[in-house]
Amino acid sequence: MLPAVTNRRSIFPQFFTQASVPQDVLEELIQAANLAPSHRKTEPWRFRVYRGNGKERLKDELLQVYGPDREDAPTITHKFGTKIDQSAAVLLIFLHRDPRKSVPEWEEIAAVAAAVENLWLSLDSYGLGGYWSSPGFVCGDYGEWPGSAANERCLGMFYLGRPDAPDLPRPRGDWREKVTWID
Ligand SMILES: Cc1cc2nc3c(=O)[nH]c(=O)nc-3n(C[C@H](O)[C@H](O)[C@H](O)COP(=O)(O)O)c2cc1C
Repeated sequence: MLPAVTNRRSIFPQFFTQASVPQDVLEELIQAANLAPSHRKTEPWRFRVYRGNGKERLKDELLQVYGPDREDAPTITHKFGTKIDQSAAVLLIFLHRDPRKSVPEWEEIAAVAAAVENLWLSLDSYGLGGYWSSPGFVCGDYGEWPGSAANERCLGMFYLGRPDAPDLPRPRGDWREKVTWID
């Protein structure tokens, strides 16, 4: 099996060190994502990379999307703010729906997931870690994210950092139960 596949795992921001991620590495990660397949080559993945002062902007946008007047807004701000602060960069993942709707939405969501997996599989070779987080309020409707186009929908965030993490088990159900052989 490919080492990138066996080594890929979710690493949470609490395990990130303070190390930053160089621009050229971020660019290579996005290039890996950009090599994902898509039906009719719609290439529906889009990313926003928040780092440095941009992380404050992300916190503001999260609060705006969650609703600043909600009773538990301070709790949400603290919860997500901590993870954002612990990360070298946070990528917001968007589905950029083909304006002509030439393929069903599920195919474009699948293509975005393929792009994220390409990025995720690439992390190990750079000594990086991260995970895809998809809180319900973040993954809203088209045009809901501040500044997003009417055909763009947020599919979550990818926290990224240089980890110092314990080697935790990644249990999976038996693959044999997930396949039907037809001879
Ligand atoms: C589309 C998608 C959304 C996810 N959303 C969350 C999330 O909101 N919170 C979370 O803790 N993990 C989330 N994960 C990560 C999964 O929890 C993780 O992949 C799973 O537990 C398996 O662990 P592994 O990635 O280490 O193999 C998400 C994964 C995917 C593919």
